[in-house]
Amino acid sequence: MSTASTPTRTPVIAGNWKMNNTVKETETLLKELIPLVEGASAAVVVCVPFTDIKRAAQLTKRTNIAVGAQNVAWADKGAFTGEISADMLKEAGAKYVIIGHSERRQYFGETDVTVNKRLKQALSKGLTAIVCVGETLLEREGGITEQVVKAQIEGGFKDITAAQTKKVIVAYEPVWAIGTGKTASAKDAQDTIAFIRGVLKKRFGAVSGEKLRIQYGGSMNAQNVDELMAQPDIDGGLIGGASLKAADFARIVKFKA
Ligand code: 13P
Repeated sequence: MSTASTPTRTPVIAGNWKMNNTVKETETLLKELIPLVEGASAAVVVCVPFTDIKRAAQLTKRTNIAVGAQNVAWADKGAFTGEISADMLKEAGAKYVIIGHSERRQYFGETDVTVNKRLKQALSKGLTAIVCVGETLLEREGGITEQVVKAQIEGGFKDITAAQTKKVIVAYEPVWAIGTGKTASAKDAQDTIAFIRGVLKKRFGAVSGEKLRIQYGGSMNAQNVDELMAQPDIDGGLIGGASLKAADFARIVKFKA
């Protein structure tokens, strides 16, 4: 396994399918993808729509692909119309869950407070959480990127212990780079991710902070993956558009760093 990460951090690359793929389309994509991702340079995850989880988990059984969801309720069960519980996700076969994606924050009122509640629930149920942070274009241009991601981490990780971070992955996704074809330069991504690692080390101690995996997300693709993954603090990617094309996603998970 080749990696720019330290020996303590196994790289992890996750596809975020967002609101794409019916069960039939999921079958087609996964059947194409499974043989292509054998021998990947990273742990491989696909975070699929809720209705696809069960079929995706069946198809990827005994492969190197794990299945994740894109949200989880903070409550066990009950009167929470439109939400989905951790037990439901686990029963369907999900092992991972994305929490606090910028699209959830932008369109569905997700805040650091709700991220924190969902994170606590995911961890208490044994799911591995991919917690997303990142600044908007306005925030970047205003020079407050570090302030923004620091606040997102402090709020999102309130009351979380160092021991719990074993089941946490942080995804740094600058909002202006999502779905735009604009990637942060490898240096900018590295700089902000190194800053995030510093915040995590302060919060959870040097050992846990050093072990936490931090992904880059935002127009990561088959062309730019190698350079991004060569950065010392970048431990993987959260991939949107390019995760919907089997050949592209396969090239990404077989990055050369
Ligand atoms: P794109 O790769 O399509 O820019 O999406 C990134 C993303 O939002 C992954 O969560």
